[in-house]
Amino acid sequence: QQSGNVNAMFLGPPGSGKGTQSERFVRHFGVCHLDAGTMLRAVAKAESELGKRVRGLMNEGRLVDDQTICEIIEQNLDKPECKKGFLLDGFPRTQAQAERLDDMLGRRRQQLNGVVEFAIDDRLLEERIVGRLMHVPSGRVYHEKFRPPQVPGKDDVTGEPLTRRSDDNAETLRTRLAQYHEKTRPLTDYYGRRHLMHRLDASRSQDQVWQDLLRIFKQA
Ligand code: AP5
Repeated sequence: QQSGNVNAMFLGPPGSGKGTQSERFVRHFGVCHLDAGTMLRAVAKAESELGKRVRGLMNEGRLVDDQTICEIIEQNLDKPECKKGFLLDGFPRTQAQAERLDDMLGRRRQQLNGVVEFAIDDRLLEERIVGRLMHVPSGRVYHEKFRPPQVPGKDDVTGEPLTRRSDDNAETLRTRLAQYHEKTRPLTDYYGRRHLMHRLDASRSQDQVWQDLLRIFKQA
């Protein structure tokens, strides 16, 4: 592992702001963004058996199988953009995925520098999720109320239309949250035992959360 690399992981429930902060994080630290949800949405577009299966699970708010997502992450870890480090966003989400990640990093002689939990009360998440707008080609994230685009419905940079995700509704959110609490939140203990865990208050403003992230990774 090269010195000065930042190898980070964001854990947090849907709508806690992981994707929003990732945009800044990868620009600031020059690392690659390994965003499990975006990678799976690309797979879900295909009319193959795999594409249909992934699409069905995501639309219901359920987790995709460990094998599929682990293979995708492993293929992406070796991209040239990752040579200064990586940000894992939405991976791992189960104990089995965390163990597979340990194997992947061990084989590459890489280590995690820090894992951040985006802690927030579930009751704040519905408003964030149902008001979210996306610019899919760039991954830019907006919100009708909290981060409105300059022109309603249009991306600030390209002027292209913004869209909503098919899993961004109150009903699917309930399943996504239940999966988070049951399967993903326990990973805070897994990484806590290795003294890698940092917890931030994700209910505060985007700028305040960003300042916390800078503090956490300033020595990395
Ligand atoms: P994924 O795409 O990863 O979704 P998620 O984890 O549910 O997270 P979100 O993208 O919904 O939220 P976010 O925390 O990024 O919030 P954002 O910054 O956009 O996963 C989708 C699906 O893929 C899963 O359900 C599963 O099926 C599958 N999947 C993914 N990874 C998997 C894995 N490892 N294993 C198996 N299956 C997997 O913010 C939300 C909104 O709030 C935005 O509009 C934003 O503008 C606004 N906002 C952000 N910060 C603030 C703030 N501080 N104050 C006010 N508003 C804010």
